[in-house]
Amino acid sequence: MAPEMKTDQLVFFVNGKKVVEDNVDPETTLLVYLRRKLGLHGTKLGCGEGGCGACTVMISKYDNFQKKIVHYSVNACLFPVCALHHVAVTTVEGIGSTKTRLHPVQERIAKSHGSQCGFCTPGIVMSMYALLRNRPDPNMVEIAENFQGNLCRCTGYRPILQGYRTFAKDWSYCGKGINGPGCCSTANSGGCCGGKDKGPGCCMNEKEDNAAMVSSVLFNPADFQPLDPTQEPIFPPELLMQKDKPQEQLCFKGERVTWIQPTTLEKLLALKAQYPNAKLVVGNTEVGIEMTLKNMLYPVIISPRWITEMTFIQHTEEGIIFGAACTLTVVEVVLKKAVAELPSYKTEVFQAMLDQLRWFAGLQIKNVASLGGNIMTASPISDLNPVFMACGSKLTVVSNEGRRIVRMDEKFFTGYRKTALKPNEILLSIEIPYTKKGEYFSAFQQATRREDDIAIVTCGMRVLFQEGTNQVQEIKLSYGGMAPTTVMAGNTCQKLIGREWNENLLQEACHLLADEMNLSPSAPGGMVDFRRTLTLSFFFKFYLTVLRKLNAHLTGNNNPGELVATRDASAIEVFHEDPVENVQLFQEVPAGQLVEDMVGRPLVHLSAAKQACGEAVYCDDIPCYENELYLTLVTSTKAHAKVLSIDTEEAENVPGFVCFVSATDIPGSNVTGIANDETVFADNIVTCVGHIIGGVIADTHEHSRRAAQAVKIQYEDLTPIITIQEAIKKKSFYKPSRKIEKGNVQKGFEESDHIVEGEMYIGGQEHFYLETHCTIAVPKGEDGEMELFVSTQNPTKTQDFIANALGVPANRILVRVKRMGGGFGGKESRSTLVSTAVAVAAFKTGRPIRCMLDRDEDMLITGGRHPFLGQYKVGFMKNGKVKSLEVLYYSNGGNSEDLSLAVMDRALFHMDNSYNIPNIKGEGRVCKTNLPSNTAFRGFGGPQGMMIAESWMNDVILTCGLPAEQVRKLNLYNEGDLTHFNQKLEGFTLKRCWEQCLENSQYHSRRQIIDVFNRQNRWKKRGIAIIPTKFGISFTLSFLNQGGALVQVYTDGSVLLTHGGTEMGQGLHTKMIQVASKTLGIPIADIYISETSTNTVPNTSPTAASVSADINGMAVFNACRTILKRLEPYKSSNPKGSWKDWVGKAYVDCVSLSATGFYRISGLGYDYGKNEGNPFDYFSYGVACSEVEIDCLTGDHKNLRTHIVMDVGTSLNPAIDIGQIEGAFVQGLGLFTLEELRYSPEGELYSRGPGAYKIPAFGDIPTEFHVSLLRDCPNKKAIYASKAVGEPPLFLSASVFYAIKDAIFAARAESHLMVPFRLDSPATPERIRNACVDNFTKLCPSAKPGAFKPWSVRV
Ligand SMILES: Cc1cc2nc3c(=O)[nH]c(=O)nc-3n(C[C@H](O)[C@H](O)[C@H](O)COP(=O)(O)OP(=O)(O)OC[C@H]3O[C@@H](n4cnc5c(N)ncnc54)[C@H](O)[C@@H]3O)c2cc1C
Ligand code: FES
Ligand code: FES
Repeated sequence: MAPEMKTDQLVFFVNGKKVVEDNVDPETTLLVYLRRKLGLHGTKLGCGEGGCGACTVMISKYDNFQKKIVHYSVNACLFPVCALHHVAVTTVEGIGSTKTRLHPVQERIAKSHGSQCGFCTPGIVMSMYALLRNRPDPNMVEIAENFQGNLCRCTGYRPILQGYRTFAKDWSYCGKGINGPGCCSTANSGGCCGGKDKGPGCCMNEKEDNAAMVSSVLFNPADFQPLDPTQEPIFPPELLMQKDKPQEQLCFKGERVTWIQPTTLEKLLALKAQYPNAKLVVGNTEVGIEMTLKNMLYPVIISPRWITEMTFIQHTEEGIIFGAACTLTVVEVVLKKAVAELPSYKTEVFQAMLDQLRWFAGLQIKNVASLGGNIMTASPISDLNPVFMACGSKLTVVSNEGRRIVRMDEKFFTGYRKTALKPNEILLSIEIPYTKKGEYFSAFQQATRREDDIAIVTCGMRVLFQEGTNQVQEIKLSYGGMAPTTVMAGNTCQKLIGREWNENLLQEACHLLADEMNLSPSAPGGMVDFRRTLTLSFFFKFYLTVLRKLNAHLTGNNNPGELVATRDASAIEVFHEDPVENVQLFQEVPAGQLVEDMVGRPLVHLSAAKQACGEAVYCDDIPCYENELYLTLVTSTKAHAKVLSIDTEEAENVPGFVCFVSATDIPGSNVTGIANDETVFADNIVTCVGHIIGGVIADTHEHSRRAAQAVKIQYEDLTPIITIQEAIKKKSFYKPSRKIEKGNVQKGFEESDHIVEGEMYIGGQEHFYLETHCTIAVPKGEDGEMELFVSTQNPTKTQDFIANALGVPANRILVRVKRMGGGFGGKESRSTLVSTAVAVAAFKTGRPIRCMLDRDEDMLITGGRHPFLGQYKVGFMKNGKVKSLEVLYYSNGGNSEDLSLAVMDRALFHMDNSYNIPNIKGEGRVCKTNLPSNTAFRGFGGPQGMMIAESWMNDVILTCGLPAEQVRKLNLYNEGDLTHFNQKLEGFTLKRCWEQCLENSQYHSRRQIIDVFNRQNRWKKRGIAIIPTKFGISFTLSFLNQGGALVQVYTDGSVLLTHGGTEMGQGLHTKMIQVASKTLGIPIADIYISETSTNTVPNTSPTAASVSADINGMAVFNACRTILKRLEPYKSSNPKGSWKDWVGKAYVDCVSLSATGFYRISGLGYDYGKNEGNPFDYFSYGVACSEVEIDCLTGDHKNLRTHIVMDVGTSLNPAIDIGQIEGAFVQGLGLFTLEELRYSPEGELYSRGPGAYKIPAFGDIPTEFHVSLLRDCPNKKAIYASKAVGEPPLFLSASVFYAIKDAIFAARAESHLMVPFRLDSPATPERIRNACVDNFTKLCPSAKPGAFKPWSVRV
């Protein structure tokens, strides 16, 4: 029952302006309030679950405890607007603007090329801003750690870090220009080496080599405005005046939820007694997710943020007591101070907590999440609860019946997310104890990604020795991630008491733990063998850590080297956290190039400044139309079923409900899709979980979401096909299967010294563009006209499909695309799922309709990269020369054909990677399954084809026992060779890239250093790999290789340029303006691109296949040439005149000042039957060398260094091209080492957000990240001698995967396993650990496949 209280006024400040809200709804988040109510669209919605940081804003308030104004970053998507009373909010709009002055944090990210699509940029800007408000002179490590809660899918992070480290106090810059960014002085060496080291990128080298030709200066820090902390906006004086006034209890009543914020503990307890089911909310990082993503409703929320008894900190004789509402950031600060000031024996638990907090979420979460919230959530994978349990923390709990002390022991957690507290009790405080002499404590955790990822297994471990001995007196081992609650290994601990801390104890403990920490093979969360092994690995780490300290204590010897066996010491070393170093080298424009000619120069992305200020407009930033409605899709929960009934009765009762839209509302055809094998709305049968059945239209997003959840659908189950294996068994394939064959494969095998057969699986990948799919459809009221704003790479198909569904000609449908917050192929065809449904809804209601998918919907519905299975047989000689190869590829296409056959084509065209194989056969089959249709994704099958090539190449190398680099090089193509599809390789620069990469990476000396490292270290291993790539450029569907442009010149001389490509962050519009500027001979500033639209350039090809700059660039060039031709008479009659003069004269003479341009790539086409013709216009080449270190005990890895050499022809814009290379590389890093989609055996996607699906974060990029653009390699085939760059570099990240495999080989050699072994992709910690076979893994054998139902399946 809603409390009988009157609702109060909420007062807060946003960007210095006072906001008074009389009707605040407690369900509203700060993000929704900013965007919808205040029209501040700079803050973005990327995930809604605190996992991406796109919504970061800064909160400032007067802290009565610290007696000062505090500033901290938060995730607006989780921050309840009700929690803002008397605080100030600063958003990206509040710190600077292109209209006035950019703030230095905005300027530096823009000018350092740290913003591509820009959707993440405001959040990153605000994270940096909040750091600088607290610490105007941070160091490099603090800057790197500050971004743990921010994700970027485009840039590869390097430029952001490079731009922002100019704020660091430990950054130095010589200021001479030659050794600017990229030189040794900007690396962590702390100063210019003066040519001593002469590493790649050394300014001194460049001077000797070719000073005029090569540059590493992508931006000049000398151009940056200084940071002046005195210029920051002041804290609102009105709020400061409130600080000493007593607060009054607040109550905010919304549609379904009441928020009460009491001022005293007594009042809080009284409220809790009155409403025992009321939810206490502190940081809302758990409850917020339950309410938005899990559809939970808490009618009464009590906020304890004003209760001093819950926010205090007290140092006692026994430890430190923290109020339960203390935030984790505050706890971290207090513990760090204690560790620094107290004797180390006292602070073992504190240090362990700090170790856990180091990897706990992002800063935005830690700034609000409470210690009590973590305990009371009772999550089985909480990072802190194992620590509290193992150290026996004391909790003070309180109710209106009184207080009691509860010890956190094995009885505290009573079940999944349940504790021993009674419903009317709350947690008041937590005491974290000091340790005493002879007592040791450690905590460990392993997650998929190190930064901001919830642990897979986590633990707290404590041991107390009898005084002066190594005999165990007490021991507690507590684990998270091994049961529905945090658990103690009670039996193991009991048996270890009294034992001496030695090798025998270790052996016995491992056997006992393996027995006690058992898991059912079907356990939720999967990864059963890995989780079990981790329990032992952690104990081993604990054993060694304690052994070292104990020996030091007992012997007084503090030399770590002598305290545990040297090789074993590597088990407890942590990866070094060095700041990122980088060198980016490119060829300068030729001497004498006109200053105004911007082609070839590192021009900043033309929207970067707007993006950094939150002014760039994305689809959902378009202000709401007056009578606009919102659509939420209703999708299938079954993978394959008949729809028996759809019941919307309950949905209709949700406030704001307007109507339900489904297949019966379609005026034209319900049939849609690239291959016409899909429906707009399901027609009786659903063929995947996430299949769109209909949609609910309501007045707001929140109402339509609630109503959609209330729609009841009855199904009759049909048998689904989920995995590739099931499809093979049932012969469920899309037709035709593809085959390429050259030479005589059988004969090749007969002539080979060795034949190896193998298999590799490559998992799929989610695009995770930061901006999810979005469409706004506006019916125009006459003749079936409709205008659509869509986040799509494919305006033409969007137009076609909508016209077809609405039964109108295409000329009535106008599709407009300003920019996308990332695309990566995910918005090439699947964006039409949303846009067509929205158009039908707009048609039905006659009103504007908006739909932006929530992150979980987007991940569920729209598919991703195809998983691939490759089965291969390779024949080769003793020297490693490959003679014959046969590969059968299967991909998981999902429930519609979409682009799957073309993806398979590209996989087959790239099955050779860069190797010349005389006898070769490849066959590809696309499996038809009941998963959401998979689709285009950067690389489009090429990476999968090449990855499997490198798998058999690795087998060849290991079988021959020869150096990997030697065997790869032996097999590389040469200039003029024919590929397996008989295309001649001309302008083959790969060997130059190879040699340069070997040299830049100092491959041979690194190899030796690694071998020495591996001999010296048992539990950490390093690996290195150098990998080439050759990527064919063109759409394989030949007719798509056409581009169009429209150039319109106005009488003031300004030029409006439109072309067929869309801007998704890749810098296409910037490049096109550079082309137009050079061709027309006018400054960049005179040319503008406002959008891509179907009424300016029709029948465009999707912005895809990396060719958009090639085809549209030539079209722009042609259009500009037409204009120039028309202006020629005016130029020659007035050669000293200006552009504006000529244009004005031409206008008066009635000369047309608008021109279209068109371009097609000729000579393309390939015949599978004859294996002849040219599928590609040309090839892009590159080579990367990467070095990694793995932790053999946990499967963790660290990317140490990567060197890339890439041929991008004569770069149109080296900053953009380097950005594409690094972005693609890091996206590939995700594909091959991190990102894992998890499906239930029934075909339901589990991983539906950044919490469960991990894309690379700031900390995942190589510590040394070097990119060189190959010099002197003009490309005859594309505009101004450039080359395509979007997709080709992605595969170079395979160098990291094979470096990991190299390191695993070294680990397996310790167990005498020296033969080829299988490693599927991605190389997650689970796969790495399981492959590093040792005595621990042997204690945790796998259950027999088929004997149990697994929690997740490999699709
Ligand atoms: C992006 C993200 C990353 C995360 N990463 C991690 C991680 O790495 N490790 C980890 O362990 N957790 C992680 N979490 C989980 C979560 O942040 C923590 O559990 C956090 O400490 C919860 O605190 P809160 O104040 O936000 O809780 P809230 O959401 O406010 O409350 C959580 C629960 O605790 C109850 N509660 C809160 N305080 C009290 C009290 N004093 N007495 C009684 N009940 C109370 C509430 O009623 C509610 O049921 C993550 C969450 C997010 C969103
Ligand atoms: S939108 Fe808030 S963290 Fe992603
Ligand atoms: S620029 Fe960071 S997500 Fe696009």
